[in-house]
Amino acid sequence: MTNERLIKSADRVKDVGEVFTPKRIVDLMLDQPEISAKVNDLTATFLEPSAGEGAFLIELLKRKMQVALEGSTSIDSYEDRILLVLSSLYGIELMEDNFLMLRHNMYQTFAVNYLRGLKAKGKPEHGKPKVLKSAKTIINANMVQGNTLTYKNGQDQPIVFSEWASYKQDGRIWVKRSTQTFESIVEGVQTDNGLIVPEDSQLDLFADFDPDTHEVKAKEYYFKYKPVKIVDVYKEELVDASSEE
Ligand SMILES: C[S@@+](CC[C@H](N)C(=O)[O-])C[C@H]1O[C@@H](n2cnc3c(N)ncnc32)[C@H](O)[C@@H]1O
Repeated sequence: MTNERLIKSADRVKDVGEVFTPKRIVDLMLDQPEISAKVNDLTATFLEPSAGEGAFLIELLKRKMQVALEGSTSIDSYEDRILLVLSSLYGIELMEDNFLMLRHNMYQTFAVNYLRGLKAKGKPEHGKPKVLKSAKTIINANMVQGNTLTYKNGQDQPIVFSEWASYKQDGRIWVKRSTQTFESIVEGVQTDNGLIVPEDSQLDLFADFDPDTHEVKAKEYYFKYKPVKIVDVYKEELVDASSEE
């Protein structure tokens, strides 16, 4: 947010407590030593449960991208590292208009700072399409519309997040992406396949239900993707479930 519009309407302040945080307060909070330490750690994750248009997440992204730039030894390593920091930031926002601005702002921030970094490294290019496409994939997975308190989105479906487990191979950063519901992450309730099973499960959503054990093999929200270089996550290729049995 550049124009520092902190309130959209009195009704929204009353209904959803919508008052955006001014930049100077965001800076003040992120400058706290405990937070700075996490900013310097590329894989330390942040979740903003009432993200608004992204006041905190945008500033976190800028700061983490700067850290990624400073520690990178080549263009490849820079691109890997900025996607890695992007994958460490998560947001949930209730209001549809704010949520759309949140995704837009995250993408703009990523793209602008990516090009700045290339320039700083003496490569004033347009940026690689696969890096930008992968950034979009990560933002779409990590910035979600929903109600943090009910764990559901506007379609009354569980909020689902992706985990990006990273590792190094042949000098590049690779990720194993898998999904699980936000509720299972918070409540720590897991089924065999990593999912929480809601008490009043909408059973028609689930692939397979055993009435004797009440076990729900809930496959709808759990996906495992093929391990890929982080610059290739836009391909979104799933692991073949039958090969897992
Ligand atoms: C006080 S504003 C802060 C926004 C942002 N964090 C900032 O600092 O600018 C609170 C935001 O939380 C959202 N919100 C309110 N209740 C929520 C809920 N239960 N789940 C997710 N978001 C919610 C509102 O729509 C609003 O955008």
